[in-house]
Amino acid sequence: MPGRLEGRVALVSGTTQGFGRGILETFIREGAMVLGLDLQAKDGLVDGFNDRQAYQIQANVAADDSWKRALETSIARFGEAPSIVVHNAGWAYPSKSGLEVTTEELTAS
Ligand SMILES: NC(=O)c1ccc[n+]([C@@H]2O[C@H](COP(=O)([O-])OP(=O)(O)OC[C@H]3O[C@@H](n4cnc5c(N)ncnc54)[C@H](O)[C@@H]3O)[C@@H](O)[C@H]2O)c1
Repeated sequence: MPGRLEGRVALVSGTTQGFGRGILETFIREGAMVLGLDLQAKDGLVDGFNDRQAYQIQANVAADDSWKRALETSIARFGEAPSIVVHNAGWAYPSKSGLEVTTEELTAS
């Protein structure tokens, strides 16, 4: 039976450990290709998965150039930009939308 995310590309931040790693594994089980982004990661394949399942880059969610590189890597590796983004790494600002959180606020965490 096809997974619920078959053929989708997902960008997930904070994939080296914790919730982010669990999200990466769950999305792959559901058929997604996952681009992981983490401060602690080394650029390359993710242990236990092949190049059509996951790729990770060393990146900082508080740095604009990291998002540009993530987009470029997604297109180069999986042939398209992510249609799913899980912004898991960093600090939560429950009083505002994630789209309104500034780079300075992310850096402060
Ligand atoms: N664990 C909890 O009980 C809990 C509860 C509520 C909310 N959260 C939130 O869930 C998210 C994940 O929590 P967790 O417990 O899995 O954390 P964790 O510390 O286990 O893992 C976080 C991962 O994100 C990476 N990371 C941190 N800052 C980064 C940055 N600037 N750029 C890229 N990668 C970065 C780290 O290297 C690490 O691999 C966090 O936003 C946390 O605030 C956690």
